[in-house]
Amino acid sequence: MKPIKVGLLGLGTVGLGTFNVLRRNQEEIKRRAGRGIEIVAVADLNTARALELTGGACAVVGDAQQIVDDPEIDIVIELIGGYGIAKELVLKAIANGKHVVTANKALLATHGNEIFAAAQDKGVMVAFEAAVAGGIPIIKALREGLTANRIDWIAGIINGTTNFILSEMRDKGLDFATALKQAQELGYAEADPTFDIEGVDAAHKATIMSAIAFGIPVQFAKAHVEGIANLQAVDIRYAEQLGYRIKLLGITKRVRVNGGEGIELRVHPTLIPSKRLIANVEGAMNAVLVQGDAIGATLYYGKGAGAEPTASAVIADLVDITRLATADPEHRVPHLAFQPNAMTNIEILPM
Ligand code: NDP
Ligand code: HSE
Repeated sequence: MKPIKVGLLGLGTVGLGTFNVLRRNQEEIKRRAGRGIEIVAVADLNTARALELTGGACAVVGDAQQIVDDPEIDIVIELIGGYGIAKELVLKAIANGKHVVTANKALLATHGNEIFAAAQDKGVMVAFEAAVAGGIPIIKALREGLTANRIDWIAGIINGTTNFILSEMRDKGLDFATALKQAQELGYAEADPTFDIEGVDAAHKATIMSAIAFGIPVQFAKAHVEGIANLQAVDIRYAEQLGYRIKLLGITKRVRVNGGEGIELRVHPTLIPSKRLIANVEGAMNAVLVQGDAIGATLYYGKGAGAEPTASAVIADLVDITRLATADPEHRVPHLAFQPNAMTNIEILPM
């Protein structure tokens, strides 16, 4: 069978990681997907750099529109980021009948309802494992592994940059600005790092998990968001002396309100007893706790940011789409796409 053809938009940290891992492990990936997965074109603003990095293995273009309009391409990977051009390109790719893989949590948490509805209408898949907790397969866990459960709550360290900053401040006595600079150099931070330090990125991810776990539309605007920008070294020291660690947590949970049900969706620094497993998650690692009624508490841990850990999740989506697109089309859409219509009518509560 001919390889499935992929166009990659954005050859930055995650784009290059994806390109490299896909090439390095191409034989295993082909066996697992049931057919080859070939990146046939890459779009990036810096075409000279992209040409050098791809070494003639695929076409390189400066205008991403060319890829979304190319009738030969089956899957578009969006790794540009942000809500501007990325939204336009994703919607155009869907309109052109292409499946989409994206790591863009900002886009999905704010425009996901529109994007998933467009994909549903067109009968294509939008996959986004890399958008939450980097390489940890948390979307798959929520959607597939835990599908028998009523999810009660999710709480996690879901921003690698802030966890890295807090760890470096505590362990090495680094100041906030130096630790942030290192996180940027290591490829963990967003293009606009205020999204990380103000808790916005974690809230984007919590919004997406909330939608999947509770069957509600994405509603980022209703999240309570508080970051770590106001924390000082002295706060971390005092917490330590009292037997706690400070972690930025994303939390979403069901709560009883006036005899009915509501959802909390919040991100804020939290004091966690030092002996707890999650208190010992350091650096850019992420950890997500999920409480289901049948299984009880489960914990997912791994690298939450960086080129290859994130590429691992992007490629898992590519493999899923390749398998499903190659199989019976009747069974593929509900599997990977969000339900654009709310399955429940529980509301996110104001905090
Ligand atoms: P980068 O900024 O490293 O990469 C983005 C790339 O897209 C850059 O090379 C940029 O070029 C290019 N680009 C910008 N505009 C265009 C355009 N119009 N057409 C083509 N290319 C364009 O970001 P990351 O790789 O870090 O992040 C990509 C996405 O993945 C984001 O949505 C991010 O939130 C998400 N993500 C990132 C993770 C990480 O650890 N970094 C982890 C999980 C998700 P130039 O540099 O010249 O502007
Ligand atoms: N900036 C994000 C983080 C990248 O630090 O977690 C991974 O989503």
